[in-house]
Amino acid sequence: MAAAAARARVAHLLRQLQRAACQCPTHSHTYSQAPGLPASGKTTDYAFEMAVSNIRYGAGVTKEVGMDLQNMGAKNVCLMTDKNLSQLPPVQVVMDSLVKNGINFKVYDNVRVEPTDRSFMEAIEFAKKGAFDAYVAVGGGSTMDTCKAANLYASSPHSDFLDYVNAPIGKGKPVSVPLKPLIAVPTTSGTGSETTGVAIFDYEHLKVKTGIASRAIKPTLGLIDPLHTLHMPDRVVANSGFDVLWAVRNPDDLEARSNMHLASAFAGIGFGNAGVHLCHGMSYPISGLVKTYKAKDYNVDHPLVPHGLSVVLTSPAVFSFTAQMSPERHLETAEILGADTHTARIPDAGPILADTLRKFLFDLDVDDGLASIGYSKADIPALVKGTLPQERVTKLAPRPQSEEDLSALFEASMKLY
Ligand SMILES: NC(=O)c1ccc[n+]([C@@H]2O[C@H](COP(=O)([O-])OP(=O)(O)OC[C@H]3O[C@@H](n4cnc5c(N)ncnc54)[C@H](O)[C@@H]3O)[C@@H](O)[C@H]2O)c1
Repeated sequence: MAAAAARARVAHLLRQLQRAACQCPTHSHTYSQAPGLPASGKTTDYAFEMAVSNIRYGAGVTKEVGMDLQNMGAKNVCLMTDKNLSQLPPVQVVMDSLVKNGINFKVYDNVRVEPTDRSFMEAIEFAKKGAFDAYVAVGGGSTMDTCKAANLYASSPHSDFLDYVNAPIGKGKPVSVPLKPLIAVPTTSGTGSETTGVAIFDYEHLKVKTGIASRAIKPTLGLIDPLHTLHMPDRVVANSGFDVLWAVRNPDDLEARSNMHLASAFAGIGFGNAGVHLCHGMSYPISGLVKTYKAKDYNVDHPLVPHGLSVVLTSPAVFSFTAQMSPERHLETAEILGADTHTARIPDAGPILADTLRKFLFDLDVDDGLASIGYSKADIPALVKGTLPQERVTKLAPRPQSEEDLSALFEASMKLY
């Protein structure tokens, strides 16, 4: 009986997915148009593709990193991490494995939590000087993204930094140089960066986040080891998890944290192929324009709005806004998040999902909207201005949005509860 219900549910989700595939106008950078159909045709996603790093999942797999590098023929490895993690077991386990397998390596532990163009460039300089033949990134999204950028620009030493940065901020040039192997060892659960060809940073000059998006920078291998999640402080679990809408309460619950770690990789595979949209586009100025906010449990000396938090604070407003394009899917999402939708009316899908998200965020002690992290109405024009260049993601939203729409979404996100 339970199996039949599960099968019915999977079939239902697959039907939803199929319907979604034909409705989406510009699905992603891997958008596929049936041969012979006009480029403007919006009706035919005829295929989908899954571009993803190799991943190995399991408690303790980190110990194999030295063997993997040996198999790759690596002789001179760059190990990247941040200052905090350099003192913690995940980095120690990697170093032990490298030593055991006789791999020469140098440590770069100056990764900035929520990296900037300047911090990327410091890491790139280190990589260029080191002439490494392989990279290992041990950390969260900040470390993995920094390492991807270091590998890219060290492999393309004559490129300007903006050459590969997404247009319109950068030139968005395709990557045609071969990169060195990169093994990513994620220590947070949420970014999925170990599976994606994306590296995100704050472009300090404009005070917005942007990034580099190319399959060429995807890690060669992701070693997804749930043991690392046991060291994460409470708010890091929550804030990194919000990026993919998960969280767990009990730090010692290895099973829950293991599932979350794997879910993060799967989510990365999902959004690495399908893309993300408005919450992410709006999150970049929310992080970039940070004034004094300091996130609890983050061992850093600069103000920061963690990426997951910057994404999730606008989610109730955004999904209220997009619901009219596909109310059934919004209701389905509310149901997955625990809402009872049996008697729900289709036109109420947006408010129902928004309320469900608010309750979820409240239960997880999330700050009460943009106002609680230091923004006011006076900041809205700057937040909108910072969102407008984020076309790589905002254009993937199911509903197009004007500047007035964006203003209204920021205003509605000032207070959540
Ligand atoms: N490339 C992508 O596809 C992608 C996707 C989403 C987000 N991002 C980017 O990732 C960054 C955020 O990464 P994040 O949320 O993973 O966190 P993070 O890398 O910024 O780390 C946050 C803090 O947690 C600490 N930490 C990490 N793992 C720990 C552990 N196991 N134990 C103890 N402390 C630990 C770090 O030292 C740091 O102080 C943002 O810059 C965001 O834009 C990238």
